[in-house]
Amino acid sequence: MSLVSFGSDNHSGVHPSLLKAIHDANIGDAPSYGTDEWTLAAEKKISKIFGKPIDCFFVFNGTGANVTALKALTQTWQSVLVSDVSHLNVDECAAPEALAGCKLIPVPSQNGKLSVDALDSFLIRRGDQHFSQAQAISITQPTELGTCYSIEELKTIGSWAKKNKLFLHIDGARFANAAVSLSTSLKNIIEAAQADVLSMGGTKNGFMMGEAVIFFNPALSQNFKYIRKQFLQLPSKSRFIAAQFLAYFENDLYLEIAKHSLSAAEKLYQLSKDIPAVKICYPRQSNAVFAQIPQSWIKPLREKFFFYVWDEKTFTCRWMTSWNTTDENISAFARELKNIQSNTKDF
Ligand SMILES: Cc1ncc(COP(=O)(O)O)c(C=O)c1O
Repeated sequence: MSLVSFGSDNHSGVHPSLLKAIHDANIGDAPSYGTDEWTLAAEKKISKIFGKPIDCFFVFNGTGANVTALKALTQTWQSVLVSDVSHLNVDECAAPEALAGCKLIPVPSQNGKLSVDALDSFLIRRGDQHFSQAQAISITQPTELGTCYSIEELKTIGSWAKKNKLFLHIDGARFANAAVSLSTSLKNIIEAAQADVLSMGGTKNGFMMGEAVIFFNPALSQNFKYIRKQFLQLPSKSRFIAAQFLAYFENDLYLEIAKHSLSAAEKLYQLSKDIPAVKICYPRQSNAVFAQIPQSWIKPLREKFFFYVWDEKTFTCRWMTSWNTTDENISAFARELKNIQSNTKDF
């Protein structure tokens, strides 16, 4: 048995209802490459969730969703404005540059979020043949630092993007968490941001694996089927990804999973925020608590629980919850924090 993990929502297993959906789809033969009945039904369902016609493509993973989406938006001489801490910028091994072929322009962020003020100063030299031309902006919702853009912030960025003729991509690896955090719908977030394309996460939300690239701007999806194939993201047995998306959107399971993850993170935040040596770094708005702790606490805590040190210089740790995080897991973690505190002078 491995340690209880607060490392990532990637660490939890498959949600039983999603595993059942895979099992239930495992009957007989079905056409492949997205022509099966599950894929067609899931596309219909997703279109209903967003309240408009969409073009939806299932892919294997989040990096693949992001990179193929950017490929659909850009030419090789164009650039995408992203947050300096975005997954696209720091955790995709330069795949956007290498494969999508566009340039990423990292823009300083606050609590993981981009602002129009910061973006404005990077929107330069348009029409200058010597300079890569800004074509799109990508925001992550919720951000990599566990914060969420408010609806007002989304509206401001969305209008700014449209005014400046930039496409808007959302990395929504944990998109349902943002809807729960903001007490709104997935549709409202897309409309507020006037998003053109969304990388909609499944894997971090209880799936075995699978994500969707969802286009709200039909002009941009025309060649996507070729891009997806060329970028090795076309699943042959797509029914098993589609079956998970169908179950995920059935009976609001997506909200149930997000609510559970967020309420677990809130409990963890409440139990750790008043421990004197624990410094909470960012507002807790998704399923992660970022906390700075004394360096000497990391080893003993890690002997009992798995988690990542997010910043090796400041000893900021990321404690992430998931659909399967239990109250006992959280209480045990908080108990251990308090235990270490009472046995050390480091605070
Ligand atoms: C915000 C965000 N986007 C994209 C990804 C990429 O997902 P994958 O690891 O499936 O490529 C991750 C994974 O951690 C993520 O956190």
